[in-house]
Amino acid sequence: MTTRARDPSTTARAPAPGPPAPTPPAMRLAGAELIDSREILPGQWLQEYTAPNLVAGARAGQFVHVRTGDYSGLVLRRPFSFNTIDPVAGTLTIHFRTIGRGTEWFTRLRPGDQVDMLGPLGRPFEVDPRTQHILLIAGGLGIAGVRALADEAIRAGRQVTLLFGGAGARDVYPSSLLPDEVEYVVATDDGSVGHHGFVTDLVPEYEAWADQAFACGPLPMLRALAAQASTRRHRLGVASLGRKRGAGRPIPAGSAQARRKAFLQVSMEQNMGCAVGACLGCVVMATSGTPQRVCREGPVFASDELDWEKGW
Ligand SMILES: Cc1cc2nc3c(=O)[nH]c(=O)nc-3n(C[C@H](O)[C@H](O)[C@H](O)COP(=O)(O)OP(=O)(O)OC[C@H]3O[C@@H](n4cnc5c(N)ncnc54)[C@H](O)[C@@H]3O)c2cc1C
Ligand code: FES
Repeated sequence: MTTRARDPSTTARAPAPGPPAPTPPAMRLAGAELIDSREILPGQWLQEYTAPNLVAGARAGQFVHVRTGDYSGLVLRRPFSFNTIDPVAGTLTIHFRTIGRGTEWFTRLRPGDQVDMLGPLGRPFEVDPRTQHILLIAGGLGIAGVRALADEAIRAGRQVTLLFGGAGARDVYPSSLLPDEVEYVVATDDGSVGHHGFVTDLVPEYEAWADQAFACGPLPMLRALAAQASTRRHRLGVASLGRKRGAGRPIPAGSAQARRKAFLQVSMEQNMGCAVGACLGCVVMATSGTPQRVCREGPVFASDELDWEKGW
C-alpha cells in the first residue's frame, strides 16, 4: 500500500581508547507533565509531555530515560526515543508498546501527572547538508526511532519516503500521524495491507533515489539492511556523499562526520541499565573490535561501524 504517494523523482569492558569521542549533548533531569495519552494501535500508546528543558536542543535519534512512579521493583528507568519534538511548544511525544510492568505503568498516567525524565541522551542521526532524498525504514515500533527525523527533514526542505514493515494490518502505523509530505509505503508479513513480505524487499526500489537512509527496528531487519547497504555503491555505481570535500583525510570512526557520510544509519535498541555510560549493560561491537555503548556511542551508528556478525 502506498498512501499519499509522492513521485520519488521529484520529490562488558570499557571501550578502549579510540578517536576523541564527540561531545555528548548536555543531558538534563526534568519533570515532564503528561498532556495527552492515547492508544493509537492495539497495545501501542502515544503520549505527549510538556518538558521545555528537555526538548531544547534535542534531536531526532536521541532518547529520554523515564522513571516510573512505582518504586516497588521498578527501580530502573525506561528508555524511549523522542518520537516527535516541538521546541517551540516545549513538548515531546513518546510512542511505546506495552510489553512489561514499566510500560504498563505509563499507560495508567492521566493528563496532569508528572514523570521524571533524563535526556536528551545518546547521539542523534546526522544528515549530510547536501542530502535531498531521505529514506526512512521502520520495522514495527522502530517507527518511534525515526519518526522525529521525518519532521526535521521536511522542515529542512528535504523529500522523505518512509518504508514501514509490520506483522499485519492491525500493526500498521496510522498515516494520519505522519506529515502530509511523507511518501508512505507499507509492507506486511501476512500481506493484509501493502506489499506482502518484509520491508527490506522494498528497499531496492529506493536505493538509487535516496541520498541517505535511516533505520530502526528488529535486529534481523537492521542486519539485512546493513548487508544491502554495504554493497550498494558497488551495485549501483553511485557516488558517496562528500567524496570531494576532505578527500584523502581519514574520517574518525564513530564521529558525527562518519555518520553523516554513511549511506545507512541505524538506531539500536539494547536493554539498558543506567543509560549514561556507566554500567556497560548495553554494549554492541564495532568492526574495529571496540565495544560501543548504545546509550553513549549510540543509539545511532553508521551501519558499517558495527560488526553484525557478533551476537549481542
Ligand atoms: C535507546 C532506546 C530507545 C527505545 N525507544 C523505545 C520506544 O520509542 N518505544 C518503545 O516501545 N520501546 C522503546 N525502547 C524499548 C523500551 O525501553 C522497552 O520496551 C521498555 O523499557 C520495557 O519496559 P517494561 O518494564 O515494560 O518491560 P520489562 O518488564 O522491563 O521487559 C519486558 C520484556 O521486554 C524486553 N525489553 C526490556 N527492555 C528492552 C529494550 N530496551 N529493548 C528491547 N526489549 C526490551 C525484556 O527483555 C522483556 O522480554 C527503547 C529502548 C532503547 C534502548
Ligand atoms: S546502559 Fe549503562 S552503559 Fe549503557
